Amino acid sequence: MIEQTTTQAQPVTTPITAATDATAAHADNQYLAMDLLRFTTAGSVDDGKSTLIGRLLYDSKAIFEDQLEAVERASQARGDAYVDLALLTDGLRAEREQGITIDVAYRYFATPKRKFIIADTPGHIQYTRNMVTGASTAELAIILFDARKGVVTQSKRHGFIASLLEIPHILIAVNKMDLVDYRQEVYDAIVAEYTAFATKLSIQDLTFIPISALKGDNVVNKGDAMPWYDGPTLLHHLENVNVGASRNLVDFRFPVQMVVRPHQDFRGFAGQISSGTIAPGEEVVVLPSGKTSKIRSIHFLDQELQEAAAGDSVILTLEDEIDISRGDMIVRRNNLPQIGDRLECTLCWLNEEPMNPSGAYMLQHTTHQVRAFISGLNYRIDVDTLHRDPAHTLNLNEIGRVEITSTRPIFFDPYKLNHNTGSFILIDPYSNVTVAAGMIRRRARTLDEVIEVNPERRRSANVVWEGTHITREMRERRNGHRAAVLWFTGLSGSGKSTVARQLEKRLFEQGCRTNYLDGDNVRHGLNGDLGFSPADRKENIRRVAEVARLGFEHGNLTLCTFISPFKADRDFARSLLPAGRFIEVYVKCDLDVCKRRDPKGLYAKALAGEIPEFTGVSSPYEEPERPQILVETDVQSVDDIVETILEELRRRGLLSIA
Ligand code: ADX
Repeated sequence: MIEQTTTQAQPVTTPITAATDATAAHADNQYLAMDLLRFTTAGSVDDGKSTLIGRLLYDSKAIFEDQLEAVERASQARGDAYVDLALLTDGLRAEREQGITIDVAYRYFATPKRKFIIADTPGHIQYTRNMVTGASTAELAIILFDARKGVVTQSKRHGFIASLLEIPHILIAVNKMDLVDYRQEVYDAIVAEYTAFATKLSIQDLTFIPISALKGDNVVNKGDAMPWYDGPTLLHHLENVNVGASRNLVDFRFPVQMVVRPHQDFRGFAGQISSGTIAPGEEVVVLPSGKTSKIRSIHFLDQELQEAAAGDSVILTLEDEIDISRGDMIVRRNNLPQIGDRLECTLCWLNEEPMNPSGAYMLQHTTHQVRAFISGLNYRIDVDTLHRDPAHTLNLNEIGRVEITSTRPIFFDPYKLNHNTGSFILIDPYSNVTVAAGMIRRRARTLDEVIEVNPERRRSANVVWEGTHITREMRERRNGHRAAVLWFTGLSGSGKSTVARQLEKRLFEQGCRTNYLDGDNVRHGLNGDLGFSPADRKENIRRVAEVARLGFEHGNLTLCTFISPFKADRDFARSLLPAGRFIEVYVKCDLDVCKRRDPKGLYAKALAGEIPEFTGVSSPYEEPERPQILVETDVQSVDDIVETILEELRRRGLLSIA
């Protein structure tokens, strides 16, 4: 009934060979068929992680007899009073240390109630790396505390990382209770302090258990040293915690690991089902080709299965001859993953060498590798305070929010929905070392998509926004200034163009990149079909605002001079840009002064009734209520006005990159 096996972790960067895959698959398939809990352990050095795992195996008799004897002999040889259970796990560790990129071994054991897979990671100081690599498929994390030390920084970090990895159940094992005389106040204080901290994290289920891994109290057996504790033992909790809810059994995803062709008549696709279930006869589509077919058969070793599910390593055959290779993904036709080449991710840096913000990496996602680079680092998360700090790079064990751009799109699901297709690692292409692990939050959204909600904004059918590899932020960094739209509004003849032309000259001299859109000019071509009815003016401003936004996305300071007499139209232009990037400049001038100036003779004509709907004469001008900048051309000189505007742009941080 009780059995235990260990399987060495597969190096994620190395193609898995048929032989080792079959062994691992066998163990995995067999275990997944039954009630199973995958868990991981985290703790500082000396918190007793190895002893705890050893104790679990020993007391639940879930170890091989020969291993046990060896450990007992070794402990006796060292003159230990207790069987040193740490030897059990440490001994197993040594044999798997070589050649493994990600240092996790999966250990299997079972009790009559449930099967378990422990993602066992070395407990040295590289906590982030180990937790991230070991825990992404875990449904429970045991975080070990040393009762004598109480809540330490590391315990907060472990909790934070566990919540980041969306591990549904967190079990705080307050260990070494024997060394604090099993006192309840010590335990209670830890529970109170950590519970307060955990409210800042999104943890679904947090449980505390006081234990002594060394003596065995509350691990498998209750013992009688802590009569004040009336909760379950650790094993009882592991056996009864509600699992499976976080397993994605809906979205079928099958990343193809390799094509199996033992003879002419058989062509199958081997891999592990990332999520969902599949049965013969179901319609599938292969990505990225989009070719469709039906599942003909599902093979596992020499059996043919009627259904397979998440976690199963199987070989699928299809009804049709379709060209499929490693890295392709087979999914259900009407349940497609997302596709993207710019991804918003949480990234944990795992390498001694800090992240190179302009470096190229290989991104390994399921069985697929693409070249990628980090196109943006939004912030770094201080794991102790949970603050978001500005940063230029990530160092070993640091966690940040980044945007990653890949040279080919990948098919993914957000990590929240699918831990397999929602995570990836970054590999240094020169050293082949795994440098980071990432969790995909979503496809990075362009401004265009964010503002799509604006009902005013029309969009042709069946168009997508084509992003470029160069983000606005990258352009801004190169330009040395921010992008923005400077929107000059005011009566005809108020001096909008005079001011804007002079300002553009000054900006140009300073090395700024600019665009200039002027009312009269765009009405020569782009908007030559429009007149001056309110509807036409609205369309005029709509088109111009869209063009201005494109200029903005290209990193430029875009100057626009339009009467734009209607507040609603100006508000629309503003709605296309992020906050702080649309600067409304009201070029104010008394109507009588404009009429006297009448540079194009238009007021005279309008007053004579020759031009209908002329602003200020026969069509209204709605003054801006709160323009970002107000200038008055009838009282200030153009030079003064230009200085005022430059000063305001500087003050807003637009003329430099902080
Ligand atoms: S807006 O109202 O739609 O913003 P826009 O700035 O593009 O106007 O164009 C204004 C220019 O068109 C004026 O500078 C003027 O030279 C010319 N114009 C011709 N007819 C009119 C009119 N009826 N009202 C305002 N401007 C006019």
